[in-house]
Amino acid sequence: MTAQEIRAAYIRFFQERGHTLIPRAKLIPYNDPTTLFTGSGMQPLIPYLLGEPHPSGKRLVNSQTCLRAQDIEEVGDNRHTTFFEMLGNWSFGDYFKSEEIPWLFEFLTNVVGLDPAKLYITCYIGDERFQIPKDSDAASLWAKLFEGKNIAAKQVDIGSVIDGYEKGMNGGRIFFYDGSKNWWSRGGSEAATPVNDPGGPDTEVFYDFGTPHDTKLGKECHPNCECGRFMEIANSVFMAYRRTEQGFEPLDKPNVDFGGGLERIAVAASGDPDVFKISLLRPIVTKLEELSHRPYESHTESMRVIADHLRAATFLAVDGVKPSNKEQGYVMRRLIRRAVRYAFELGIEQNFMEVVAPTIIDLYKDDLPEMAAARNEVISTLLKEEKIFRQTLRKGLHEFEKMTRMQFSDLYDAHTTSAENEKQVMKPRLNGEHIFRLYDTYGFPVELTKEEAFKRNFRIADNADEEFDRLMNEQRERSQTASKGVFKGGLGGQSLQHKKYHTATHLMYQALRDVLGDHVVQNGSNITEERLRFDFTHPQKLTAEEIKRVEDIVNEQIKNDLVVSYEEQPTKVALEKGALGQFGDRYGDTVKVYKMVARDTDKPFSFEICGGPHVDHTGQLAEGGKRFKIVKEGSSSSGIRRIKAILE
Ligand code: ALA
Repeated sequence: MTAQEIRAAYIRFFQERGHTLIPRAKLIPYNDPTTLFTGSGMQPLIPYLLGEPHPSGKRLVNSQTCLRAQDIEEVGDNRHTTFFEMLGNWSFGDYFKSEEIPWLFEFLTNVVGLDPAKLYITCYIGDERFQIPKDSDAASLWAKLFEGKNIAAKQVDIGSVIDGYEKGMNGGRIFFYDGSKNWWSRGGSEAATPVNDPGGPDTEVFYDFGTPHDTKLGKECHPNCECGRFMEIANSVFMAYRRTEQGFEPLDKPNVDFGGGLERIAVAASGDPDVFKISLLRPIVTKLEELSHRPYESHTESMRVIADHLRAATFLAVDGVKPSNKEQGYVMRRLIRRAVRYAFELGIEQNFMEVVAPTIIDLYKDDLPEMAAARNEVISTLLKEEKIFRQTLRKGLHEFEKMTRMQFSDLYDAHTTSAENEKQVMKPRLNGEHIFRLYDTYGFPVELTKEEAFKRNFRIADNADEEFDRLMNEQRERSQTASKGVFKGGLGGQSLQHKKYHTATHLMYQALRDVLGDHVVQNGSNITEERLRFDFTHPQKLTAEEIKRVEDIVNEQIKNDLVVSYEEQPTKVALEKGALGQFGDRYGDTVKVYKMVARDTDKPFSFEICGGPHVDHTGQLAEGGKRFKIVKEGSSSSGIRRIKAILE
């Protein structure tokens, strides 16, 4: 089945079972300042899951377009996309598990035709703290369905994801995990559920591609392992509880909130784990092959990035976003500019939006009439941004040439003296200031500067990144001061997302010291709307286990909902009290000291000199079910490690 057929069949299937089709919500949330984009099907329905009656009734179905900007840098592998569709069906206090689970099984196996032997299930293991039982009801419903297909349905207790790497598959079909994986609420796990919010156990369906396990992740494979063997394709939340001050109370009428990734179900249906080969993405890739005269097989990553980014940008344009320097417009600008950059690598150097955007629109126009209606405007919006950016690139390249010709002496690397590096001495060296100047004045992307330098056999100074970050931060402070009050909540480093990453940075800094030791000292930090980046002193690569421990500590402290507060103190006093601060005696006379403390204690988990801004309490980092995750760990320069981490 094509993805389009799966979408239509899903909607029909639930309409036949009494559900009303509701239109997709736009990618820009309506009346919800806490988040930039619609990231799941239930997000626009929160009021109804909280009890407000929905005008279309108690049973709803749709396919919701979603965007997760935090995944921008992940795109390039076979499964990550920033834009996707989430198939959703909802029961507002109407049917429950004994209808939902058999329907889901029937849809996946009979309608889509997935081999039931390749499906694995996870359920909630229960939590004594809240007297919420193990979800054996869901497990027995699943077991009966598998047994009906002559498939043994052994149940295995796992617990946490880390336990999973110890316990492994164990011949199981149905696996029980704790609340970090199989509990859903707006706040995340049980403890992180905001008071008065609904939440409940969920059950997830995984598709087994049968690829070998990667032991770098842990000893044994299990459904929630990230080696690529298993892909989560569906999640049914049984919202049966309301969070109270003390714990949970059962709702009179529990809800069902189902979400399944359309693209992922289509990938499972194809049996090939590459999402870019499904019917909603492959035609874009084919168009890029035609334009570049290069095959997908040898230019896989570039084509994936372009296909994903332009599809996302096209939908943003349809939903009325224009490229700009803040919020949604900024994300859109980044997507387009990254696509143009990657197109460069394919040798596509003239305007290609005109060719690619119509291909994307054609893929959706029959199912989403707004796509056809917006056609001309979408193309001209994208084209305009492409033109601006190409002009910028040309100017930047010209400037790069000039800089390297005219200022050769200032680029000359005078510090390399050893005989072995004799040859290096003759190489010009770009430093952070050059890179910053190109970026700041000409909008020349940093990676492009580095690539051009590489092509010309120049060197990049070891501390170029740090220097660049420092200049960037100084510049940001300048522009923040200038625009104070004008862009409140915008990208000036004051947005909620920014604050969250700022707070996450403090938590991670302390966690790194807890796990690795007190030799860990901050060396640099850079925060965007999508991620945090943190440099610190440590002599070697972190092991997978150390990374996991750091993540767990941070997630634990998010769950503990620490209260964040600050005090102005004389610098000397703050340092004597043990506040962490990267600039030693270079601070002024007084400093702001931020602390993050659990409600029932007075010993802070984190105690750090910092200008802020931060969230009010760490539980906010889990909003929308997010968890803290380290996505990259590598060397920044000698003795300095660099981590990139996200909330996802
Ligand atoms: N709300 C659930 C999810 O996003 C279905 O996974």
